[in-house]
Amino acid sequence: MAAFETVAKLDDIPDEGCKQIIVRGDVVGLYRVGDDVYALGDVCTHEEAYLTDGDFDAEELEVECPRHGSRFNVVDGSVRILPATRPEPTYEVKIEGDLVLVGARSSEMSP
Ligand code: FES
Repeated sequence: MAAFETVAKLDDIPDEGCKQIIVRGDVVGLYRVGDDVYALGDVCTHEEAYLTDGDFDAEELEVECPRHGSRFNVVDGSVRILPATRPEPTYEVKIEGDLVLVGARSSEMSP
């Protein structure tokens, strides 16, 4: 199981916004809603695009791909709107004080 790594300060992520980071070679988007942060694979599973370049809907907890408009839930990675069909990986997140730590990718976690 991957150890948690400090990747950002909470205030580096705009509230109801996002920030791209690299963790263990993966490009990951951090999405913030108040004191909650979600981590989602940032490369669209449809074609090449960064989801953090798209629009984050903080109310629905969905991000829209800037390229063809697929929407992904940032909590569980599920596809909400086609053309993408494969879900995004998610990552464990911990907040310690004002630091954001990212842990294992969903595919590495035990069921
Ligand atoms: S590249 Fe994201 S929907 Fe096509």
